[in-house]
Amino acid sequence: MSRKVLRIAGDGIGAEIMAEAIKSLDVVNERFQLGLTYDDALMGGAAIDATGVPLPDETLEKARAADAILFGAIGGPKWDQLDRAIRPEKGLLKLRSELDLFGNLRPAILYPQLADASSLKPEVVAGLDILIVRELTGGIYFGEPRGIRTLENGEREGFNTDRYRESEIRRIGRQAFELAQRRNRKLCSVDKANVLDVTVLWREVMDELAKEYPDVELSHMYVDNAAMQLVRAPKQFDVIVTGNLFGDILSDEAAMLTGSIGMLPSASLNSKGQGMYEPCHGSAPDIAGQGKANPLAMLLSAAMMLRYSLDAAPAADAIEAAIGKVLDQGLRTPDIYTDGTRLVTTAEMGDAVAEALRGS
Ligand code: IPM
Ligand code: MG
Repeated sequence: MSRKVLRIAGDGIGAEIMAEAIKSLDVVNERFQLGLTYDDALMGGAAIDATGVPLPDETLEKARAADAILFGAIGGPKWDQLDRAIRPEKGLLKLRSELDLFGNLRPAILYPQLADASSLKPEVVAGLDILIVRELTGGIYFGEPRGIRTLENGEREGFNTDRYRESEIRRIGRQAFELAQRRNRKLCSVDKANVLDVTVLWREVMDELAKEYPDVELSHMYVDNAAMQLVRAPKQFDVIVTGNLFGDILSDEAAMLTGSIGMLPSASLNSKGQGMYEPCHGSAPDIAGQGKANPLAMLLSAAMMLRYSLDAAPAADAIEAAIGKVLDQGLRTPDIYTDGTRLVTTAEMGDAVAEALRGS
């Protein structure tokens, strides 16, 4: 089978963490005879510097032709003053939208070795394994009309529109129900149906779908309560399904439960099984180039890519097991460092995972 991977390193720490993921991918490529081939493309600030736009046509074409996209991170202060239409983030949003990557899977799993690195008490987070399913190509991120206008009295007004069509809610709902079927069969749909009409419809469609999945227990929760419950008693959740904006916020919150956002991978899938895989953290310009970035979210994203888009689950298992082994050995980048563990650089962490893979 063809296994064409497009690498988009992006900005900030993107290139450093990509390099570490490739070390391990090279090992599994050889060991499992995967026949992975790589191509590279520009996006975000790097693309703006080289071509003037955050998502060049060439990158979009390469992305369409790839089986999977491995993506680092984009953005940084250097491009913050640019016109909103060509900011680095626009490139990422356009790519998500053009490839119709509507289903964003963000698993928050606490490695037992990192229980002390979480800001929550170990007993609150021990054994945590939740999956946030975020709708990624609709809602207020993309809704029109949007903009900043000047009113008749000269005052400026900013506005966005939160809208979801029934079909958009149904397809992300189906994906979440199906994922819940393969886990603990509990799905919590998060909305703000006490205030927002768009999420009244969201709730109705989820209830309709629930009839088709009688083996899954569906519950509903308002987003403000969900934000609180995630830090009060996160283990009550199995799968959470929610819209684009709430999913963005709740997934950052869930990341901290696992000790560090540097541990949270993600997969963004379309209905053809094509996917983009990226760590949930950003480009972290403040630590770029210093060897301080945690490459594990990127490595975990590469493992998700092998599992969901490249039909290579054994290779994904091997990478995840190697990460467990390296954490057992006590290696820690600064974001997950605690007393008694060993502080390592980005490259040392990446080397150790690749080495553990070779030895397994
Ligand atoms: C994420 C990021 C992006 C988002 C930004 C970089 C546009 O925060 O993937 O969570 O808001 O979706
Ligand atoms: Mg985010």
